[in-house]
Amino acid sequence: MPFATTQSIMKKWLPEGLFKALYRLASRVYGAWQKTADAAYYAGAYVYYTLILDRKNLRKIKTVRRILPYTMVGRTGLLTTYDAAAGSEKAGLPGCFVECGVARGGSSALMALVARDHRSGRKSWLFDSFEGLPEQTAEDEYQEPLVAMPQDKSASVVAPGYCLGTFGEVESLLFDTLGLDRDNLFMVKGWFDRTLPEHCNKVGDIAVLRIDADWYESTKCCLENLYDNVVSGGRVIIDDYGSVPGCKKATDEFLQKRGLKVSLQFDGRGGCSFAKP
Ligand SMILES: C[S@@+](CC[C@H](N)C(=O)[O-])C[C@H]1O[C@@H](n2cnc3c(N)ncnc32)[C@H](O)[C@@H]1O
Repeated sequence: MPFATTQSIMKKWLPEGLFKALYRLASRVYGAWQKTADAAYYAGAYVYYTLILDRKNLRKIKTVRRILPYTMVGRTGLLTTYDAAAGSEKAGLPGCFVECGVARGGSSALMALVARDHRSGRKSWLFDSFEGLPEQTAEDEYQEPLVAMPQDKSASVVAPGYCLGTFGEVESLLFDTLGLDRDNLFMVKGWFDRTLPEHCNKVGDIAVLRIDADWYESTKCCLENLYDNVVSGGRVIIDDYGSVPGCKKATDEFLQKRGLKVSLQFDGRGGCSFAKP
């Protein structure tokens, strides 16, 4: 039974205090398990790629590991993002990397690092309110986060402002910590329904469109404004497809409305991606 279903059944039947205590305990156990699994993965992958002298994969593992503290998507989400970005560099696809829903900047930074490593001069566009999530709408069934996020360990509801990463925090990661080139990165602050229509022409061709905005309206707005900019063979990543019902609904409706037959590839943690036909 999926974690979220177990969670909502327990929430319904257990007294509130007991539910919250169990929830916090489960979050801690999950967090500790993730850390252990990550450490084992990196150690194993590092030894293996060193032994077989696979420099490309060693670089990938090191980059993902470096970025991990700045993201909510975890190791698997980062690996998928890295592969999408590196794949478009390898295929020489035109266009930039775009992330809608940046939070503390990890996934966007990862794509920009891939572009830097490939010396492609590829640009990245980062769109976010930098004020955290907006209100859910009726299209979003009530959803508890699977694990509490690092900045609010006690959170048990998805309130507006959740998933906050500030503009300054992301700027500092990109330019001070990682030393990325300011000429190749564009950060746009504001709500998507205003910023995306305003900027879609400036953004131009897109090689990787990463949508990580949780809610129905946010996901819908990203697809409606930016999908047409994605080049043929370019990749669209929908980070919350399998974990947030509203996000899935917005994506399915969009694909259906456009008559798009795409093959969704799942990353095993709720995210999915597809190549634009
Ligand atoms: C789950 S977080 C993104 C996580 C991030 N990609 C990472 O690597 O950690 C979702 C982000 O989407 C942003 N967001 C959601 N809906 C938005 C909207 N309509 N306009 C602007 N930003 C939005 C929130 O501010 C939040 O930073």
